[in-house]
Amino acid sequence: MSEQEWETVRTTVADGIGWLEFNRPDKRNAMSPQLNVDMAEALHALDRDDACGVVVLTGAGDAWSAGMDLKEYFREVDGGPLWRQREVREQSQTWQFRILRHFSKPTIAMVNGWCFGGAFIPLVSCDLAIAADEATFGLSEINWGIPPGGMVSRCLADTVGSRQALWYIMTGETFDGRRAAEMNLVNKSVPLDQLRDETVTLAKTLLDKNPVVMDAAKNGYKHAAEMSWEGALDYLYAKLEQSQFNDRSKGREEGLKQFLDDKAIRPGLQAYNKG
Ligand code: COA
Repeated sequence: MSEQEWETVRTTVADGIGWLEFNRPDKRNAMSPQLNVDMAEALHALDRDDACGVVVLTGAGDAWSAGMDLKEYFREVDGGPLWRQREVREQSQTWQFRILRHFSKPTIAMVNGWCFGGAFIPLVSCDLAIAADEATFGLSEINWGIPPGGMVSRCLADTVGSRQALWYIMTGETFDGRRAAEMNLVNKSVPLDQLRDETVTLAKTLLDKNPVVMDAAKNGYKHAAEMSWEGALDYLYAKLEQSQFNDRSKGREEGLKQFLDDKAIRPGLQAYNKG
């Protein structure tokens, strides 16, 4: 097991899982400019760590994240130099959207509590998400005087669809983990006392797969979803060939051998044994 700590974030890598925690529980894990910088560094560290095969993003204490830090990200930056506004926006987008959304390893959001506003960006950037039934979600921006910022609205359009998105954007009403699952904002919701076990089970399923192919599969899907059919076809074949080229373990040959020659697996029902 290895642990690393930044001012506002900490990581623990154990049994293949990289636990990445928002670590400002006193501020309900609100995302300050410092947290945005720390998260980018922590994600790079997990990317470089061969002992980490899956990343789980969660929050210390009783919050996942209360969204952008209204004091440090908004009030203290508003009215200051424009370059500083550009800088803090860039820092938040860098990890929340660019690094996390296309991370090389599978990512799971484990939503243990409060999840508001800007926190929807890292939530939707994670490949998969499991919430506690007891978690509370909300688009609180309308309640304190701004429309949803950054990529929040786009994240909603990508997951819950416009009827649900506009309802919560316009009313600022909160909803729980069950409702989040019903709307496809998260994959599933379970009682809080089962959240960690459920997440570990999912992480282990992902760890079982070929990591090079996993990277191509999830990122291929995300990019192709925004392309024309013809462009996507060409891109996805290129992605497939890239993954075969980069897979030094030659997983495809092994998978075919275990099915066709050894008759040891049925790929419809299980992953090939990576050895
Ligand atoms: N930005 C800055 N500080 C925040 C924060 C945020 N988004 N959310 C919570 N905090 C701080 C509070 O100011 C308070 O700080 P203090 O102890 O120095 O006074 C501390 O975290 C605890 O907050 P509190 O409101 O007492 O906690 P709670 O458990 O009763 O309620 C929330 C939790 C999340 C419901 C409530 O804090 C809240 O509504 N936060 C704002 C959510 C939001 O609108 N986010 C912005 C989305 S862009």
